[in-house]
Amino acid sequence: MDAAASPRTTPCSIEEVRIEHFSGDVLGMGCESPRLSWKYRGSIELLPEDAVVEIRLRRLSPDGALLSEETVERAIASSTLCPWPFEPLKSREQAILSARVFAGSARGSLGANQGWSRPVTGEVGLLLPGDRKAAMVGPAWAEPWSDCRHAPQVRTTFVLASAPVHARLYLSAHGLVEGEVNGRRVGEDILTPGWTSYGDRLTYSTFDVTGLLRAGGNGMGFWLGDGWYRGRIGFKGGAVDTYGSRLGVWAQLELAYADGSTETISSNAWDGRWQARKGPIAFSGLVEGERYDARLEELGWSSGRLDETGIGWERVTELPFDVMVLEETRTAAVRKTGEHRPVAITDLGEGRFLLDFGQNCSQRLRLRLTGFEAGSTVTVHHAEVLERDGSLATRPLRRAVQVDSYTSNGQDAEWEPRFTLHGFRYAEIEGWSDTMTADDVWACVYGSDMERTGWFECSDPDITQLHSNVLWSMRSNFVSVPTDCPQRDERFGWTGDIAVFAETAAFLYDTQDFLSNWLVDVASETERWGTVPYYVPFVPLGEWRVPEAIAIWGDAAVFVPWSLYLAGGDVQRLAEHYPLAAAWVDEVTGYLSDDGVWDRRPNLFSGQLGDWLDPSAPPEDPALALTEKELVATAFFARSCGLLSRMAEAIGKPADAKRYRDLAGHVREGFVERFHRSDGTMTSDTQCAYALAIVFGLLVGVPDAERSAGVRLAELVRQQGYTVATGFAGTPYVLPALSSTGHLEDAYALLLSKDCPSWLYQVSMGATTTWERWDSLLPDGSVNPGDMTSFNHYALGSVAEWLHEVVGGLSPIEPGWKVFRIAPQPGAGIDHAEVAHETPSGRARLAWRWQAGLLSLDATVPPGTLAVLEVGGRSETLRGGRHQRSYEWEPAPSLAAAEGMSGV
Ligand code: BGC
Repeated sequence: MDAAASPRTTPCSIEEVRIEHFSGDVLGMGCESPRLSWKYRGSIELLPEDAVVEIRLRRLSPDGALLSEETVERAIASSTLCPWPFEPLKSREQAILSARVFAGSARGSLGANQGWSRPVTGEVGLLLPGDRKAAMVGPAWAEPWSDCRHAPQVRTTFVLASAPVHARLYLSAHGLVEGEVNGRRVGEDILTPGWTSYGDRLTYSTFDVTGLLRAGGNGMGFWLGDGWYRGRIGFKGGAVDTYGSRLGVWAQLELAYADGSTETISSNAWDGRWQARKGPIAFSGLVEGERYDARLEELGWSSGRLDETGIGWERVTELPFDVMVLEETRTAAVRKTGEHRPVAITDLGEGRFLLDFGQNCSQRLRLRLTGFEAGSTVTVHHAEVLERDGSLATRPLRRAVQVDSYTSNGQDAEWEPRFTLHGFRYAEIEGWSDTMTADDVWACVYGSDMERTGWFECSDPDITQLHSNVLWSMRSNFVSVPTDCPQRDERFGWTGDIAVFAETAAFLYDTQDFLSNWLVDVASETERWGTVPYYVPFVPLGEWRVPEAIAIWGDAAVFVPWSLYLAGGDVQRLAEHYPLAAAWVDEVTGYLSDDGVWDRRPNLFSGQLGDWLDPSAPPEDPALALTEKELVATAFFARSCGLLSRMAEAIGKPADAKRYRDLAGHVREGFVERFHRSDGTMTSDTQCAYALAIVFGLLVGVPDAERSAGVRLAELVRQQGYTVATGFAGTPYVLPALSSTGHLEDAYALLLSKDCPSWLYQVSMGATTTWERWDSLLPDGSVNPGDMTSFNHYALGSVAEWLHEVVGGLSPIEPGWKVFRIAPQPGAGIDHAEVAHETPSGRARLAWRWQAGLLSLDATVPPGTLAVLEVGGRSETLRGGRHQRSYEWEPAPSLAAAEGMSGV
């Protein structure tokens, strides 16, 4: 019986239990005592006082035998990250979990099988190092080149007496790997095992392959690619063999049979059953693209033919590998998350076609190839935008040429490259045999498979498009690590980019696991290099070879954990990330002058990066911003100290909390002393300076300073003709600074401007993602000549936060959205908006509409949370449930205070 049965006893039910932050079933968990959460459907506010939640655990051994069934009761309020209420799980054990709600008095009347939530399964990975028996194996052949190395295939065959009832493949690699069992693809993940600081930790993935095995002869095959491990990565020529020069696969297949017996087949070099050969992938680079030669395919290579014939197969060799670096994956894999069909196909003649997929993002083409002669080659070039003459704009890609090619063996085929990913909207195909139709080709969208948690739309289609652009830039750059861009030869985890975007990201998707996973590497690289590196995983390159502490980029160590805490309310995770955040603040404290201003170091060629990409900076020097770098650095540092103090408070370290609060106060005083003049102006009379001072609360305590800073900021924005004058540092804060100091109209005017530089300038130029530069495409339609011109950087998309909070009207007050604000501030003729966020307690949503003198709100407050509704100077607290309100609304010339509203 399903959960719907429970209303007989309670007014609410539970849909599904969540294990840690995973969504749905999880294989290969890395913990033995996962925390549990669940969301209520219905109103817990109406439950009787003796209501409880009953959690049921069924433990299963790998062969599916029920080991035990236990239940415990927990309080209704313990629904978020409830500590594991049972004995710890063991390696490989499966936990099937359900929960139900009932009033204590109804216990007797509720049948044993009534009212349970949909079961969810958590299976533990190979927790003990001794559980990991496989060796890292790969080809033994000599490889003379550092580039253009042929990608290997590795295979094995084995005989099973009967079909297993349970089979798990634990898989990792030096390089990238995709598995096949008996000719069929294992799972749907790509770019396994993702990118971590491989020297410190390498993750393995767990796949259920039960359905792929059979009694008799079986085969397993593995495609290997260079990936981050040994492929050429990064800018200025990049680095090659960063982690090693030999590719290898680590595979452990564990089987359980109906009679309770088990068997393990592990990659090794000693039993003679594991072989390697040069496969059809003649070359594959993450940024360069892939060359596939179908003439090198061997039919049935992974299908378990026991004759072990075939061309070029050699015994594998064992590679040096420390099994202690292996760990379970902590976050969702990179998977296909969508598909685009061409919206336009232009025949360029002589077998060349230009395709427009309508959306820029991280994707790969899939081609349906029919009627090609053996030896004929189809080549695909990719680019984000077109030059004015209609050709692909490939110059901004720099070394990352993004070219894939397929050489036919004369057979019809469907093909997509395996170990590369491209940032593009347009593709040009060469060597096509005939006419091309939309059925011959499509683009598969890839990204880390996080759960979507945020939505926004409003009556202004340009603003809605802007929001969509922000979302797509996030999807394109959350690919195993949070990257700066998905197309040129960088694609690095630049810390500053995510520092300013993390809060926006946490609204749009559940970033808890993705960013926590990355922060583990930020912490280890910080320990290794003595400071937070510019990008993580860190690869020493060019003038960025030696990490130096720089503001904003280093502040990611505080801002990112804080964004996770604010969205998820997970104190335990916060405590895990706290040492990293504290290390950053402690380090920078040593670079402050006596007055608390950060004006010493870094010894970087450019000094601080400051308000990076301020539009007034010349294309060749993006760090040459209007705002003093020391001002920006000190402002961000004050913010970091303040947030760190709040973190210390939350995790129960009151002495630290006080120390960092005092430090924040000291830095703030130094900031005011050095950068704020007695006439209310700042030493840098810029939008960025005022915005940071206001939003970071740096002027509190100086009479009238915040108000006058708001006035000056609004003046500057007006003088600038409502165009943006900020870069990475100031951009997230300009609109909030305006709206919080009573300049809502100016904020809307800036948001709605289509003049360059502005957010809607990009939209009006046809952008489908957020650009790196305000004018990546110049007003005449040509590509910005700067060496650094991407059309897909999420940093400037942090404006979406203001859309959610001020236009839409939703923002958290307490971590985990236990208490949140509903406070739309309509303006600029926008007559309706809808915003929603999936909080840890359920969906928060607000739709508002202004029509015929009435402003109507329709709000949903998740069970167990409180919403503070603030409209037109009124405040009301709402409990879980749906609430509708209408207010008389006279559109006043000034929208700032919404004075004309009165409750109806
Ligand atoms: C990246 C940026 C990054 C910056 C810092 C650029 O090349 O694309 O997003 O933060 O360098 O210097």
